[in-house]
Amino acid sequence: MHSSNFNFLVLALFMSLSLLVQGNSSKPFTFERLDINNTALLIVDLQVGLIPLVRDYEPDEFRNNLLAHAAIGNVFNLPTVLSTTSETGPNGPLVPEIVAMHPTAPYIKRQGVIDAWDDPDFRAAVQATGKKQLILAGITTDVCATFLALSLRQEGYSVFVNAQASGAASKTVAEDAKARMRDAGVYVVSPYALVSDLLRTWANNSYNVQTIGWDFAYWTLRGYMTDAHAAAIQNGTLVPGELDFN
Ligand SMILES: *[C@@H]1O[C@H](CO)[C@@H](O)[C@H](O)[C@H]1NC(C)=O
Ligand SMILES: *[C@@H]1O[C@H](CO)[C@@H](O)[C@H](O)[C@H]1NC(C)=O
Ligand SMILES: *[C@@H]1O[C@H](CO)[C@@H](O)[C@H](O)[C@H]1NC(C)=O
Ligand SMILES: *[C@@H]1O[C@H](CO)[C@@H](O)[C@H](O)[C@H]1NC(C)=O
Repeated sequence: MHSSNFNFLVLALFMSLSLLVQGNSSKPFTFERLDINNTALLIVDLQVGLIPLVRDYEPDEFRNNLLAHAAIGNVFNLPTVLSTTSETGPNGPLVPEIVAMHPTAPYIKRQGVIDAWDDPDFRAAVQATGKKQLILAGITTDVCATFLALSLRQEGYSVFVNAQASGAASKTVAEDAKARMRDAGVYVVSPYALVSDLLRTWANNSYNVQTIGWDFAYWTLRGYMTDAHAAAIQNGTLVPGELDFN
């Protein structure tokens, strides 16, 4: 047999065998997209007294992540609910910049209730949004974010946890909490995934301007990338050699 035919035969055999062994990815799957018209943002226990407990992010990075989370509500005009627990105790108040971003949002100050869903005022505020897809972040990841996320899943909501705006006492604690949430069908995602899902397209989307503003404010590298592109378009010149390596 000609050797290229033989190679082809071996390859075909191998491919049919691997299909037999693994099957293809025919298991039905639905990609649940965030629908801007069906989404609300929850800001839970992002309290100044809890931030020092966070050991899975650097403090300045984490502050940026918290503000980025809160700003997603303003970029996309999402109904937003703020909540804290035991503000007058060691947990302290909600991060003041976040309160300033959402001056008219319902702000539920729980009297010690740990799982926000156990608080009737919080439940009412979430239900009043009428939205079924909920983005949330909470400190700590394993308690405030996880307990609420699991309660919301039990109620039938779709839950998107912004992992980078939720903090835990260690990376291990955070990983375990995220695994627990995923087991309950919670989507654990990055802020950029949230923003991109809500935006859907960069082509003439009316939210683009705010999204680029969000990049500049909270995602330094993406902001500088946009700066570099604008500078190149407005003032850029090519030096010899730049086009020679395609
Ligand atoms: C996967 O397998 C199913 C059932 O055998 C078949 O209907 C489907 O077309 C296959 N999909 C691909 C991408 O090969
Ligand atoms: C949200 O509602 C607006 C206005 O009705 C509509 O144009 C848009 O397509 C909707 N977005 C999605 C993702 O369904
Ligand atoms: C962009 O969208 C707006 C509003 O939907 C529309 O009026 C405008 O014509 C669009 N521009 C382009 C270049 O498609
Ligand atoms: C282009 O150069 C001008 C003049 O120096 C400057 O004002 C402008 O900001 C530059 N544009 C960008 C996008 O950097």
